[in-house]
Amino acid sequence: MSKQLSVNHLLGIKGLTREDIELIFNTADNFKDVINRPIKKVPSLRDITIANLFFENSTRTKLSFELAEKRLSADVVNFSAASSSVKKGETLVDTVNNILAMKVDMVVMRHPNPGAAVYLSKNVDSRIVNAGDGAHEHPTQALLDSFSIREKLGSVEGKKVVIVGDVLHSRVALSNIFALQKQGAEVKVCGPTTLIPKYIESLGVKVETDLRKALVWCDVANMLRIQLERQDIKYFPSLREYTMQYGLTTEILNSLDKEIVVMHPGPINRGVEITTDVADSDHSIILNQVENGVAVRMAVLYLLASKIER
Ligand code: CP
Repeated sequence: MSKQLSVNHLLGIKGLTREDIELIFNTADNFKDVINRPIKKVPSLRDITIANLFFENSTRTKLSFELAEKRLSADVVNFSAASSSVKKGETLVDTVNNILAMKVDMVVMRHPNPGAAVYLSKNVDSRIVNAGDGAHEHPTQALLDSFSIREKLGSVEGKKVVIVGDVLHSRVALSNIFALQKQGAEVKVCGPTTLIPKYIESLGVKVETDLRKALVWCDVANMLRIQLERQDIKYFPSLREYTMQYGLTTEILNSLDKEIVVMHPGPINRGVEITTDVADSDHSIILNQVENGVAVRMAVLYLLASKIER
């Protein structure tokens, strides 16, 4: 297997090969060992400086990248759009070029606009890691999701995964579809037809509108958050009705003849797409996903940094 990624940036899962994903996971296995040691740090990125640019809110991704960078001994600077000169009208490219002038080597960016990371990669001279761009892609989330399935079930190949809920507004869904398919998993989406994009079947993904049928079919259910902040119109009559049809409960899980793995990228709307008892049950690997996020992001940063000419 190649010891280098085929890409110079991580802009989306679409641009990765299956070998890239395997390389990231094998590297993350080593970093997972590191972060479970008493001394959770290695000197791998000691002379690398990374800027985390967050133009949109984040808890998990922002802290996970920052911890990954610090555990690799990188120097880290954090930028939040709310308190920056973006508010005075500075362009994205000017903002990033000014940050790069301070000898920054890599940029991790979350942005509300789909394509923002690709645009940046074409207009500045730095390694770019997409930490989520609008409803487009969230590659490190999909990588940590697949890594967590691999950890729990032994492999991703041949597994049946249903992605439930607000697929229309979800960058997590699109990146997961690409990642799972590249590794040989079967993917279905489930939700109200108003929240399923019309193009989804062209990606080789089947649609199931009945949650119970989807759960009977799958090995893994990835429950998505209803993204009310991205919904400009009403896609279902009320949250209560959405929950009645698509909320995952202990009652439904107990009615299945088998155990399934329950995932959620967070943040969770407890009592909407998933009940508290399911989120905190033995079916759930939600906190494993968060733990694995640090190791997977360490792997991505380490592999991209190894391609920087110094
Ligand atoms: N899963 C995820 O992207 O969470 P944050 O928005 O908190 O980063």
